[in-house]
Amino acid sequence: MVNAGILGMGQAYPSGILTNADLERLVDTNDEWITTRTGIKQRHKAADNEYTSQFGTRAALQALERAGLKPEDIDIIVCATTTPDQIMPSTGALIQAQIGAINAAGMDVFAACSGFIYGITMVESMIRTGQIKYALVIGAEVLTKYVDYTDRGTCVIFGDGAGAAVLGPVPEGKGILATKIKSDGRYEEQLYAPGGGTKLGTTHATIENRDHFFKMKGNELFKVAVRSMADISAEMLEKAGYSVDDVDLVIPHQANQRITDAVASRLGVPDEKVYSNIAEMGNTSSASIPIAMDECIQSGKIKEGSLVLLTAFGGGVTWGGTVIRF
Ligand code: UT7
Repeated sequence: MVNAGILGMGQAYPSGILTNADLERLVDTNDEWITTRTGIKQRHKAADNEYTSQFGTRAALQALERAGLKPEDIDIIVCATTTPDQIMPSTGALIQAQIGAINAAGMDVFAACSGFIYGITMVESMIRTGQIKYALVIGAEVLTKYVDYTDRGTCVIFGDGAGAAVLGPVPEGKGILATKIKSDGRYEEQLYAPGGGTKLGTTHATIENRDHFFKMKGNELFKVAVRSMADISAEMLEKAGYSVDDVDLVIPHQANQRITDAVASRLGVPDEKVYSNIAEMGNTSSASIPIAMDECIQSGKIKEGSLVLLTAFGGGVTWGGTVIRF
């Protein structure tokens, strides 16, 4: 059996920017509160005519180019998104058409902010067992179209963007060494968008209640997020046969700087080994880890031989952890 590893990465995001000062004009908030409570200074925001698959496509094409592969080499496209272009077809299938990956199967994974780790966990075993050779895993979100800009508790956090990874066979000792995904649907109402589905449908009442927008119990989610990410990180490091001291870089889902800091301190990892871009990007859900990974590869923070720990947590609730040797 072969190992599955990352062969190339890419990212894309809208040029539009929403600053904390912009948000001060929309809701009762201020730059000082947002900065100290979340670490966020700005986030990217799609224009009305921009949508999820466009960013996923741009990120995917960049990842393919860096992997030295063509769209037709790809066997499966897994698009992690909670903000699809439309309910059907899947955004994965739409991206397949946009990049011309004629030999692939395109699909979506709905696992909120943990979606990228869900995607790489799924394709890792398909590559390892030889069922497929090359996979594209994309985290793509236009969250700002699902954000209620009358709710200061959620609207200050989320931003838009996409990150993509091409995965394929790598030599022994490299690639994904341990990965695991988990969920607990009992926490459904901590982060959810109840409207628009088969339960409530789309009615005048759901629209008046703003049920199509994200609703979040941020404070409760905070504690579960820290515990879940720290625990699964420790478990994956142990499974891979490493300790926290062996890790070169931790890339957590960029949910909130205070969550990142709390996970790092629970794990006992020094701040300089923990990557953060939340000040510029905000929380881009499933896109946050692949965007951050791409930045680290481009800047040389991740290099040949680096041992990298990924961990995510999101609505569902869902969480996951992955240890990768580059
Ligand atoms: O992506 C994965 C899933 N999402 C998460 O993991 C998000 C996790 N949660 C969080 O990031 C934080 O809980 C938030 C940033 C959402 C909120 O921060 P917090 O420190 O947990 O604030 P809080 O909800 O406990 O609210 C504290 C106070 C409240 O006022 P009172 O009741 O103490 O008077 C809120 O009304 O802060 C108020 N508040 C705000 N004030 C100014 C809430 N949002 C804002 C705001 N500006 N934007």
